[in-house]
Amino acid sequence: MPSVLILNGPNLNLLGQRQPQVYGHTTLAEVEQQCREAAGPLNLEIQFEQTNHEGGMVDLIHAARGKHQGMILNAGAYTHTSIALMDAISSAELPTIELHLSNVHAREAFRHQSYIARVAIGVICGFGPRGYTLALEAMADHLAEKDP
Ligand code: DQA
Repeated sequence: MPSVLILNGPNLNLLGQRQPQVYGHTTLAEVEQQCREAAGPLNLEIQFEQTNHEGGMVDLIHAARGKHQGMILNAGAYTHTSIALMDAISSAELPTIELHLSNVHAREAFRHQSYIARVAIGVICGFGPRGYTLALEAMADHLAEKDP
């Protein structure tokens, strides 16, 4: 069964408490539960992770190489700044979907820039927690097309 790493970056541990007017009331544990429920019928295994540390994210992406078949990445603010994450994704050679809860393009100009998008197969943003299950569906389709 194909396996997907769902990796969440800085401040996403505070989901549900942090700026609920922007990010909603759902907690990260609830998002993980929704992902686990969605993954089974899509025939995907998942590993769900969160870290506030850029280097820790790089390590998890390196460890995903050869272990997982795809990655769904909400890199939080590192999306807009991290060449290190972009390089890690290129090195891991894993199809990656960039994900954001909020519509970053409707927000401040500094959120319009993404280093992740350059190396992602696609981007989902603006649909809140539903974005995670949309991304799992898109990843399942992508992996089935690659390896029917
Ligand atoms: C975010 C958007 C980023 O700009 C922000 O820094 C986050 C969360 C989102 O999911 O909407 O931390 O990635």
